[in-house]
Amino acid sequence: MNLKKSQPIGIFDSGAGGLTVASAVKKLLPNEKIIYFGDTAHLPYGDKSSETVKNYSLRITDFLLEKNCKLILIACNTASAAAYDAVKERAADKAVVLNVIDPATEYVAKHPDLKKIGVIGTKGTVSSGTYTNKIKALNPEKEVVSLATPLLVPMIEEGFIYDNISNSIIKEYLSSAKLDNIDSLILACTHYPIIKNQIRKFYNFKTLVIDSSEVVARKLKETLVENNLLNSENSLPEYKFFVSDFTDFFKTLAEMFFDEKIELQKKYL
Ligand code: DGL
Repeated sequence: MNLKKSQPIGIFDSGAGGLTVASAVKKLLPNEKIIYFGDTAHLPYGDKSSETVKNYSLRITDFLLEKNCKLILIACNTASAAAYDAVKERAADKAVVLNVIDPATEYVAKHPDLKKIGVIGTKGTVSSGTYTNKIKALNPEKEVVSLATPLLVPMIEEGFIYDNISNSIIKEYLSSAKLDNIDSLILACTHYPIIKNQIRKFYNFKTLVIDSSEVVARKLKETLVENNLLNSENSLPEYKFFVSDFTDFFKTLAEMFFDEKIELQKKYL
């Protein structure tokens, strides 16, 4: 691939949730330019068929390739499960492609202390079986159990965080017999890092809670180094944010997830 270090990184998600990943990338790699696309006109992806999610993901890939991205990070778990192969094929030799599932599955598969791993995510992510299949392929000894927790996305988006409503919903889901005796829990959805500490507290800090946004940022750095694409120029950071539908609510959400004030540009694909 004939790519330059100065080209931007493209990150996409169904909406604003992927900004938790973009924020982790910004903290770890302050010299990288980032172009973010949130498909707010089509969210949520979590309840849609994998065919539909694949089609949306390919349109966004074309957009990010037009913007000359050297690397495309699928920052949505549902799209990573449904569209990773298709996006890689579309990007071919024009950009490196990463998803948010491989870094977390590689991490738990290699971790010697983890025997029974829980996964929570959207219906789409859980029903795809991608986390289980990938962990088992790397290490068949691991036991993996997963649970769809679809109420958590709207709960977080409506601002129910660190209160009685969110405590009850989290307790109801995590008390499911499916998750009995897990030693670790992968937060397999872009939104869940926001309630990471609440989940840790539910387990009295005894279960390892894996925030995939941090593992993904580390994997992205390693990939850039391996491909000699890490931007070492100390220039001012350049971040651009596109959404396929704009409302003030999306802007508020985006700022909560990215953890700073941002400008959103509307671009319907
Ligand atoms: N971004 C999605 C994910 O990580 C959650 C929101 C949605 O369903 O679109 O799976």
